Amino acid sequence: MKKIIAVDGPAGAGKSTVSKIVAARLGYTYIDTGAMYRAVALKVLQSGQPLSRQLVNNIDIKLDEAARVFLDGREVTKEIRTPEVSRGASDVATVGYVRERLTELQRKMAAKGKVIMDGRDIGTQVLPNADLKIFLTATVEERARRRLAELEAKGLASDFAQVVKEISLRDKQDSEREIAPLAQAEDAVLLDSTALTIEQVAEKILRLAEAE
Ligand code: CDP
Repeated sequence: MKKIIAVDGPAGAGKSTVSKIVAARLGYTYIDTGAMYRAVALKVLQSGQPLSRQLVNNIDIKLDEAARVFLDGREVTKEIRTPEVSRGASDVATVGYVRERLTELQRKMAAKGKVIMDGRDIGTQVLPNADLKIFLTATVEERARRRLAELEAKGLASDFAQVVKEISLRDKQDSEREIAPLAQAEDAVLLDSTALTIEQVAEKILRLAEAE
C-alpha cells in the first residue's frame, strides 16, 4: 500500500473531491494545500494590509479531519471558496516566501504518512518522494461546468463564460509562474477525468494505490 499520495492538476479537475473519497476509503488524512494558499489570500483581503513576510510568518492555518479550514483560530471553510479568494490565492502563490512557508508546513503535515495531499506542486516540489503521484486533468469546459455547479450550490451567482475565463486565467498564471509552477512530475500518472465520474476516478487511484 502506498503511504503518501500526491495529486496535482489545474483548477476544477476534481482533485479535492476525489482525494477526500480516496482518503476516506484508505483511512488516510486528506491535506488540501490550495486551502492554505486561499487562507493566506483571505488574510490579506481582510486585514487590508499588503502581503508581507511578517504576515505569512505569523499566520496560523489549521486543517482538521473533516477538511475544515481555520485561519488564526477562526473557521473560514466557506469564506475561502469565493472567486475573489481564488484569484487572490493564485496571486499570493507566485511569491517565494509564501511558498517556502507553506511548503514547510505541508511537509510537516505529511511527515506521519498515510496522507493524500492535493495541489499544484506536490509531486514536483513538496513531496518529490511520494509513493504515488497523480496528475488529474479535464478540458477547461468540463472543469468550468463543475466549478459553476459548485458555486451555484453555494448560492454564489456566476455564469459559464465568466467561470471559463477565470479558470483559464488562473491556469495560465499557475503554469507560467517562475517558482514551483503547475506541472506534471515525470513519474506521475496522467488521469484525464473529462469523461469519467468522480467514483471512476477514485477507483482508478485506489487501484494504483493498492498496487505493489
Ligand atoms: O480548488 P481549485 O482547484 O480551484 O484551487 P485550489 O486547489 O484551492 O488552489 C487555489 C490556488 O492556490 C491555485 O490557483 C494556485 O495558484 C495555488 N496553489 C498553489 O500554488 N500550490 C498548491 N500546492 C496549491 C494551490
